[in-house]
Amino acid sequence: MPGLVHVIDHPLVQHKLTLMRMKSTSTANFRKLLNEIGVLMAYEVTRDMPTHEVEVETPLEVTKGRMIDGKKLVFVPILRAGTGLLDGFLQVIPGARVGHVGLYRDPATLNPVEYYFKMPSEMPERDAIVLDPMLATGNSAVAAVTRLKQAKPRSIRIVCLVAAPEGVATFTQAHPDVPVYTAAVDRKLNDHGYIVPGLGDAGDRIFGTK
Ligand code: URA
Repeated sequence: MPGLVHVIDHPLVQHKLTLMRMKSTSTANFRKLLNEIGVLMAYEVTRDMPTHEVEVETPLEVTKGRMIDGKKLVFVPILRAGTGLLDGFLQVIPGARVGHVGLYRDPATLNPVEYYFKMPSEMPERDAIVLDPMLATGNSAVAAVTRLKQAKPRSIRIVCLVAAPEGVATFTQAHPDVPVYTAAVDRKLNDHGYIVPGLGDAGDRIFGTK
């Protein structure tokens, strides 16, 4: 797997992901766990963000500290399951901006079609973090990032919870410049486009819509 793919194997992330995979996990707990994993993944995905030195005055003396460069980050959940990761990310970085991408799959062509796209201003000065819990075929993530690139953010990375090898291959081939952060790369996609073993339909499990 190319160096573009970061598997976040932190024990807390893996423990929570295992609980989320269980079919007995309730909607409320699934949502809570996704939120908690969002916090932990936000921490990992921002690990190498560029910082600059600033001068600060503590109650005792003047010293130097570091702060993240540039305009506020922008989180970009892909509707609808991506919004499940958003709260955790906002808990860690409350000042971040949020852009949304909505795509649906055309039943005739199976191609992703955009129905919503709204980003904050000054995108060329912002680093974008795309949120989508399941990187399955990779087609909607590829389309979302292709569209996002038109807004010219300074950088893009994508965070998912579970990826299929097929989705990783499709995504990294289309966007080799966009690193993927995931908690797991599972065995495969099944004939219905579900990741196995996976955790089922993330949107249905977050919103209780089955
Ligand atoms: N989307 C999901 O929510 N789950 C899968 O397994 C695949 C795509």
